[in-house]
Amino acid sequence: MFGGRQKSAVGLDIGANSIKLVKLDHDKDGFSISAIGIRELPPDAIVADEIRDREAVIFNIQSLIDQTDPKIKDVVVSISGHSVITDKFTIDRKSGPEAEQAILFETEQRAPFDVDDVTLDYHIIKSDEEINKMDVLLVAARREYLQMFLELIEDCGLRPVVVDDDAFAVLNSYVGNYEIDASKVTALVNIGHDVCNITYLADGLFVATRDVSAGTREIFNAVQREFRLNPELTAKALKGEMGDSIDQDMLKATIISATEELVSGVELAFSYFKSQTKIDAVDWVVLSGGGALIPYLPEFLQSKLNVPLEIANPLRNIDYDPELFQYLQPEKIAPLLTVAVGLAMRKTR
Ligand SMILES: Nc1ncnc2c1ncn2[C@@H]1O[C@H](COP(=O)(O)OP(=O)(O)OP(=O)(O)O)[C@@H](O)[C@H]1O
Ligand SMILES: [Mg+2]
Repeated sequence: MFGGRQKSAVGLDIGANSIKLVKLDHDKDGFSISAIGIRELPPDAIVADEIRDREAVIFNIQSLIDQTDPKIKDVVVSISGHSVITDKFTIDRKSGPEAEQAILFETEQRAPFDVDDVTLDYHIIKSDEEINKMDVLLVAARREYLQMFLELIEDCGLRPVVVDDDAFAVLNSYVGNYEIDASKVTALVNIGHDVCNITYLADGLFVATRDVSAGTREIFNAVQREFRLNPELTAKALKGEMGDSIDQDMLKATIISATEELVSGVELAFSYFKSQTKIDAVDWVVLSGGGALIPYLPEFLQSKLNVPLEIANPLRNIDYDPELFQYLQPEKIAPLLTVAVGLAMRKTR
């Protein structure tokens, strides 16, 4: 009230399939939801990280704000995809311009784009005097892409107060909702429409993150084709709202065959992670994103990876009045809200 403590933050997750909004009130006891909403986008308005129909995206963001809380101005947003890289690396302990120089050099080795065109942000997560090394967490985005994205948010009449990365939002939401079991190597697997973000934790700490360029769009398209449905009915079929008018065996077969590419992408990412880190096994998978809600997908993924799997509940530690948001049934669609919740948990002041 007196401009001291932060009272709330709004996470706005702009995905290829839908836009999610979560407003969390922050107080000394934790978090509570004060607004929530989801709006599906037309099929090709966003494809992967490319905004193809800017007008449609703006229209849908504004409509979502109007429906949930028209007073919202400040939002925490996230970017992901080819124009963004995130990495963790270890360098000699330095500070000031020397540190910047070293970090820029490391970025150069990693970025598939020219570092002159990059906006970067980093965080020193561990500094060890004894061995004179420090661990740096890096996020670098192509400047042009970031600029375009910020302009889009501003054109919606909003103010992007923090720009995060999808994978970090998933991590943030996990840390905010679960006791981390440090004895387990954990993979947070967030399956979206076009991208699957994987974030690894070991010894209770962040280790690495990788994006796999595959998601549920394949499944969506296959179901649409196989059952000759329009996009609205396809979405319904995947939400289990079509009842008996859909043959379940055929639905299962269609989903599973359309999931192959995604699953092998995740398998490959796991092998790569293990070979890079000399970690023998991933012990635990926490699945989030729309992929966690697609029928048969979690079981199939679990059987292929052969790793115990749990579906994320990003509302586990968050208070809300179920009556108030009944039309959305937050407890049922919670995995879909993982990124938005992680964003809304961010401190903005
Ligand atoms: N209630 C639901 N039940 C089952 N599936 C659902 C449900 N809601 C959404 N989905 C499916 O989840 C998928 C989208 O997942 P998600 O919302 O995580 O992707 P996105 O964030 O929009 O995409 P991306 O992160 O790749 O940009 C869609 O294919 C959709 O069919
Ligand atoms: Mg997403």
